[in-house]
Amino acid sequence: MKTVNLFQKLKEKKEKIVMLTAYDYSTARTIEEAGVDAILVGDSLAMVALGYRDTYIITADEMKIFVKAVSKGARNSFIIADMPFMSYNINVEQGLENAAKMIKAGASAIKLEGCNKYILTLVQRCVESGIPVLGHLGFTPQLMNTIGGHKIQGKTAEMTEDILVNAQKLEAAGCFAVVLELMPTESAKYITDNLTIPTIGIGAGNACSGQIVVTDDILGKYTDFKPKFVKKYADLHNVVLESVTQYKNDVKTLIFPSEEESFELSEEESNKLS
Ligand code: KIV
Repeated sequence: MKTVNLFQKLKEKKEKIVMLTAYDYSTARTIEEAGVDAILVGDSLAMVALGYRDTYIITADEMKIFVKAVSKGARNSFIIADMPFMSYNINVEQGLENAAKMIKAGASAIKLEGCNKYILTLVQRCVESGIPVLGHLGFTPQLMNTIGGHKIQGKTAEMTEDILVNAQKLEAAGCFAVVLELMPTESAKYITDNLTIPTIGIGAGNACSGQIVVTDDILGKYTDFKPKFVKKYADLHNVVLESVTQYKNDVKTLIFPSEEESFELSEEESNKLS
C-alpha cells in the first residue's frame, strides 16, 4: 500500500513521480497495474466524464462517487481526491467536512487550489486531522474567471517569485507536494529547486519532481480540445469509433451474432419447438 511518504522518498532519490487522473474502476485498475505512483481523481472529470461546460458545476457529493470507484479499482495506490469549486471555500468546517467525505469514499489525500490566509489555515486543519493535502499553484482552473482565462503563469521573474512564496507557505502549512500548472520550464525549475516538498508539473516543463496529465488526454479519448503540453500516446477516440462502426455494420448485415457467439438447444429440445 502506497503512502504519502512515497512523494518525499522519490524526490530524495531524484526519481520522477508519475501521476495520472482516473475517474472509474477499470481505468484505475489499469493505471495501478502499470505501476503509476499516485492517482488523482481530478475535478476535470466534470468536463471529461460528465460533459459539463467547465469544472465549476461539480459538487463534493458527485466527486465522492468517482472516488469510490477509483479506490475500488486501485486498492494499493495512493489516491488523491480533488476538492471541487466552493466545496472548501466557505469556512474551515465546510472544508473539513467535504475533505472527510473524500477520505471516507476511499481517497488517501485531497487537493486544494490556490494560496491565501484562509487556504493555509484549512491546510493546517486538514493535516492536523490526518488528511494529507496536495497544493495547486500557477494556473488554477477554479480561479479561471478571476485570472481571466487559460493564461500561462510565472511569465516574469517577479511572478515566479510570488508563486514560490506561496509554494513555501503551503509547504510550511503542511502540504506534502504542490502541483504547478501552466508555466515556463525555468519558472517551475526555480520553484522546485527552492522547495523541500516535491512539485508535480502539468504544462510546466521537465524540471518538476513529477508529472501529472489527464489520462483521457494522453489516450486521445477526450477530443473537445488538446492542450499544447499534452503528448498523445494512443488514439482511443478513433479506435472506439472504428470498433463501434464495425459492430453496427455487423448487426445490420447479420454477421453478428454468429453461431460462435450464440447458444444452442439440444436437438431433442429443438425438435419440440419445430
Ligand atoms: O482536475 C484535474 O485533473 C487536475 C490536474 C492537475 C490534472 O487538477
